[in-house]
Amino acid sequence: MRIYERLGEGFREGGPDYLPSLAVFHCRWCFPDAERVRAMLPERAAEKALLVRVDCTARIEAEFVAKAFSEGYDGLLVLGCELGECHHLTGNHRALKRFALLRNMLSLLGIYPERLRLMLVPPFDEELVRASISEYVSELGELGSFRYLG
Ligand code: FES
Repeated sequence: MRIYERLGEGFREGGPDYLPSLAVFHCRWCFPDAERVRAMLPERAAEKALLVRVDCTARIEAEFVAKAFSEGYDGLLVLGCELGECHHLTGNHRALKRFALLRNMLSLLGIYPERLRLMLVPPFDEELVRASISEYVSELGELGSFRYLG
């Protein structure tokens, strides 16, 4: 088997009932309460989600992304302040640029970049946040379980 084919997506266990394991990073300024974030995740996915509060989405380094996937998480979600609302002014703009690079990096590694999602959403529009997360989790379900085989 070619090395490229061994990487990333060799293991699937997806389907409509499958609930992926999530690592969720949430900005402390717009999503300070981990339990509130957990409550916005689809019920069964919430049980096994890892929640990590960070000071800003700009805090998400490539090494965190690599570590999450090497630990076997199916998806890495980052919830942050809307553009124009970042407590550190341009942190979420920097995060947007970094995430574009990170998605390219994941592609090169044979990992679907859709597994990594940055959501800069209005924290008080819970319905929108829930719907966005739910859509993301459904997409992860279609991709199936992730196991890095490198
Ligand atoms: Fe929330 Fe920067 S402080 S994204």
